[in-house]
Amino acid sequence: MCGIVAYVGRKIAQPLLVEGLKRLEYRGYDSAGVAVIDSAGNMHIRRAVGRISVLENTIQNGQALPESFIGMAHTRWATHGAPTECNAHPHLDNSGRIALVHNGIIENYAALKKFLSGKGHQFSSQTDTEVLAVLIGDLYDEMKVQNHIPPGVSPLQRAVQAALHQVEGTYGIAVICKEEPDTLVVARKGSPLIIGVGKDEYVVASDASAIVEHTTQVIYLNDNEMAILKPDAFRTCTIDDIAISPVVSQLENKLEEYELGDYPHYMLKEIFEQPTAISNTLRGRAEQKDGRIVLGGVSKYTRELIRAHRIILTGQGTAWHAGLVGDYLMEDLAKIVTECTYASEFRYRNPIVEEGTVVVAISQSGETADTLAALREAKERGALALGVINAVGSTIARETDAGIYLHAGPEIGVASTKAFTCQIVTLAMLALYIGRRRFMSQAQCQEVIDGLCAIPDQMTKVLEQSDHIRTIVEQFCERENWLFLGRGYHYPVALEGALKLKEISYIHAEGMPAAEMKHGPIALINDGMPVVFIATQGSQYDKVISNIEEVRARGGKIIAVATEGDANIHRYSEHVIEVPDAMECLQPLLTVVPLQLIAYHAALARGCNVDKPRNLAKSVTVE
Ligand code: F6R
Repeated sequence: MCGIVAYVGRKIAQPLLVEGLKRLEYRGYDSAGVAVIDSAGNMHIRRAVGRISVLENTIQNGQALPESFIGMAHTRWATHGAPTECNAHPHLDNSGRIALVHNGIIENYAALKKFLSGKGHQFSSQTDTEVLAVLIGDLYDEMKVQNHIPPGVSPLQRAVQAALHQVEGTYGIAVICKEEPDTLVVARKGSPLIIGVGKDEYVVASDASAIVEHTTQVIYLNDNEMAILKPDAFRTCTIDDIAISPVVSQLENKLEEYELGDYPHYMLKEIFEQPTAISNTLRGRAEQKDGRIVLGGVSKYTRELIRAHRIILTGQGTAWHAGLVGDYLMEDLAKIVTECTYASEFRYRNPIVEEGTVVVAISQSGETADTLAALREAKERGALALGVINAVGSTIARETDAGIYLHAGPEIGVASTKAFTCQIVTLAMLALYIGRRRFMSQAQCQEVIDGLCAIPDQMTKVLEQSDHIRTIVEQFCERENWLFLGRGYHYPVALEGALKLKEISYIHAEGMPAAEMKHGPIALINDGMPVVFIATQGSQYDKVISNIEEVRARGGKIIAVATEGDANIHRYSEHVIEVPDAMECLQPLLTVVPLQLIAYHAALARGCNVDKPRNLAKSVTVE
């Protein structure tokens, strides 16, 4: 949700900034802009509505930027103000000396705007960000007039600190000033910001994808921290100016992992990466030979986990769907009362957190504002807070008491795919880890581990059906309403299938428990409506067949995701997509794959932008 990249060093900034923006484009893509300060100390800004390619064309065709060694850029996901050129970042203060890019929301922007307007300041956009830029400019002037700045201290740093004390809300910001043309000031609260530390240069970005090409040494800023960066020196401190010693970490993912390779879209790449991603999630944790689970990340809290009275799984969107599968897994395998709740609801409902409650925050990005807020609320109320996170070093990962990384590799496609299956695998391992130390037999534990270890190969067989799935989808992709139905472990899969279809092909779809359909939604079914049933063999197979009959009787067309070799299912379905047989509790890992491919092929057939669906952003850092 909005991407920031900023640079100060010895290289020419502009190409580096635009390349960085392209890597961050998945975070927001309604408009973009770049600002640089040239060697004569002049500020230059270019902004454009639309994708980064539009901004790039603007720069290449007639509005070239001069050589400069400091600058910053932004790709926007609109919160305040429509996606227009004047609302695009960077924003300037009134004198045009200071430029700012911002990710987050300044909640008290209206009051600040009124105050600044009263002092005669003008605004040219509807954004909250411009208010912050103007505020910094106003304070910068004040400080210079009062001449209170000690020698060697950047007035820009002081003005930014003073301004941040007045704002309420969230921010990841980068600020430059033409009167200090070698200084880049960055700060964060609630929105991610990572500083890449190179030789005589710093690349700051909202996530590692824009940094990894330049350096693998990074500093993760915490909330209320800032950095003052010059090519040959840097300082980190709090916004109250208390110096902090920076911890330099090593980035985990390699540049190639962020590349598209031979795939046409990141979503397809990530769907096909799932067997490898799952193997990576399992590696060193699911020990098939000994039939045991090793989870170093949570071992310190083993006692608390075994004695837990209640587990609350929380997340948003796809992560919440993974949590719903986790809910079944925890109760099935660990025998602990579990609930899965939307983070956004948990946070504000005055939740009861008794002693012995463990909260597990599930998030691919580790930056989702709602999930982070729920985690903080849970910790505040005394819960043990665990994370199931993909992005190493992300805010949620750093704020949990302990956790398990997915090791799924970077997920760039806006529609989450491989994170979902790796989240389920991780939750299954957590359930086994606890269950084996409570009531689970060694034999049962071994059986589930064997099942988990077989999943990557089984999934490869499902992926081989991509063309078959495409031919099915092409017959239905003009239909504007779809249903996804499943029971038990497949209810969350149905929700996930509907979400995928909605978000990338803009088809209206609903997912629900198959049994729920007859309590109302059955009224939607009309002649030819595509209804996807997850109808694998298992404890509820016969009941699902009855539900299929109910839909067929009303003219619905059945696409069944069924167990390999199930001859019976063909009698009830127009189309069958087969998945290998697996333990019931692990079947979601296989049955979700056809649904991901249905969404992908439907979006392609409808001419939608698969990796950058309208109105969406990959990482939702506002509540
Ligand atoms: C859907 C999707 C979203 C995310 C949700 C949580 O395809 O990607 O629903 O799952 O925004 O994001 P994370 O997992 O980063 O917390």
